[in-house]
Amino acid sequence: MIIAPSLLAANYGRFADEVRRVDRSGADWLHVDVMDGNFVPNISFGPGLVKTLRPLTRLPFDVHLMCARPEILLEPFAQSGADWITVHIELGDQVTPLLWKIRSLGKKVGLAINPPTPATAVEPLLKHIDLLLVMTVNPGFGGQPFIEEVIPKIQQVDAWRRQKKLKFHLEVDGGINLAKAAECARAGADAFVSGTSLFGQHNLRAAVKKMRAVAIAAHRHPGALP
Ligand code: DX5
Ligand code: ZN
Repeated sequence: MIIAPSLLAANYGRFADEVRRVDRSGADWLHVDVMDGNFVPNISFGPGLVKTLRPLTRLPFDVHLMCARPEILLEPFAQSGADWITVHIELGDQVTPLLWKIRSLGKKVGLAINPPTPATAVEPLLKHIDLLLVMTVNPGFGGQPFIEEVIPKIQQVDAWRRQKKLKFHLEVDGGINLAKAAECARAGADAFVSGTSLFGQHNLRAAVKKMRAVAIAAHRHPGALP
């Protein structure tokens, strides 16, 4: 089970300290939400911040590009220290070349899908990716409520993963707290992005440990009541 705190929910006045806190927390990845004010109605941070934070931790940087023109960002983020680079299926025909470009840069290939987009949109590409990021909120802001209607999509993608014997991570992102982590794990998720719920805790280490424990327990016993 992968626990990935989202930098979007960190204290912007203390990014270095926050990354050190994530590094010490036992988290698996650092989720970096990149927003361009075009693909989503918000702007966050760019390659320069990733480059600054890179030396502070050996944790993989899970970079989520919520950007209309990711083709101009792939190399800057790859050179700044991104390990996983994810682009949105909603970008349409340009997605396949983007996935190959991420691969050619030697990075792990991620594909994200928004709540209104049907799972069938990503099925043809599942064999080409290392990570499917299933958005459980509409992208753009942290602290939003979890969208329950996405659960069947997680179940469908997990079923395809098993049927096709694929190995990509199934990551969920948005409104993930302990209860939603368990619910998504039961549906087949194995990677959990969490911003508000984790960064809001005084003891991040305990919160990460607890979220991983509930996800493992739910994954092992899908039928168990919450
Ligand atoms: C939303 C981002 C999410 C968000 C998660 O567009 O992609 O990663 O930061 O934050 P919480 O956990 O606060 O919903
Ligand atoms: Zn994200």
